[in-house]
Amino acid sequence: MRRSTIVAATLPIAVALLLALAGCGGRAPAPKTGAGATTAKGTPASPWVIGMSQCNLGEPWRVQMNADIAAAAKAHPELDVIYKDAQNKSETQQAQVRELVDQGVDLIIISPKEAKPLTEPVRDAYKRGIPVIVLDRKVEGSDYTCFIGADNVKIGREAGKFMVQTLDGKGNVVELEGLMTSTPGQERHQGFTEGIKGSRLKIIFTADCKWLEPDAQREMNSALARFPQADAIQAVYAHNDPSAHGAYTAAKLEGKGREKTIKFIGIDALPHEGVRYVREGILTATFQYPTGGKEGIETALRILKGEKVPKSITLGTRIYTKANVARGGAAVH
Ligand code: FRU
Repeated sequence: MRRSTIVAATLPIAVALLLALAGCGGRAPAPKTGAGATTAKGTPASPWVIGMSQCNLGEPWRVQMNADIAAAAKAHPELDVIYKDAQNKSETQQAQVRELVDQGVDLIIISPKEAKPLTEPVRDAYKRGIPVIVLDRKVEGSDYTCFIGADNVKIGREAGKFMVQTLDGKGNVVELEGLMTSTPGQERHQGFTEGIKGSRLKIIFTADCKWLEPDAQREMNSALARFPQADAIQAVYAHNDPSAHGAYTAAKLEGKGREKTIKFIGIDALPHEGVRYVREGILTATFQYPTGGKEGIETALRILKGEKVPKSITLGTRIYTKANVARGGAAVH
């Protein structure tokens, strides 16, 4: 074949290739802005993609966290959020974080089920240059961009001090713990023991209820059976409101009226959950545990814009009791 023939034969292919590369090929979609201009990342036409890894959506507090994230993100058309629900399985959550990395998201927000199993996937993502915001429950070490959450040791300590006050410094307490392989469970326990230190409050029964109401109800049944005298238990400290409610239900169903003499204290204070229980006289108190959803999105935006953010952002808490619930609780300092 002569040289001119080769050129003639390959030229149309080369032109077509060039046109396709330039985005001007017959079937290429019309560019979204300008005449074929490549859009900058972080604009409504080419939003940043945030991958949100939620450990479960079976608990109302987590549904609220996702709703808070969605509400905050809605005000920012330059952001897209994709949600993963690990259905309360650490292995599923590990795989989902890896999927988000493979998908090439711009940032990951994770609320991990447990500290240890999620440490490595978070570290991997972070080491690959994907910013990671850890929300509410912690991972081990410091290989992430930013942690956002309330101070669970402080919440536990305040719950302890409140209980000492309420019980006049003495009495028997049942502690219904959250999942003890997650940091809020560990920290709420630690804080509570600090808060009751020096008093004559005694923890006579402890169980890991994994944050779940049915588990708490079952464990409270055991506690009531093990301590059957009417005045054997003065209070229940539950690490979250669903557990406090489960304990109340167990005491009520026991049929001896002990739900009227035992004080139940919980944590979370969702308006339609713990705060309602306080208003209805089921709980003596609940401490707010903010979801951090809004702060998560605000911080994500700052990171994506290249701003420096603190390694840790601590959210506040409020206490709700019968006396203050009508005026929206009281801030805890
Ligand atoms: C929901 C929840 C909350 C609790 C938080 C602790 O899954 O159990 O009730 O405050 O997680 O991480």
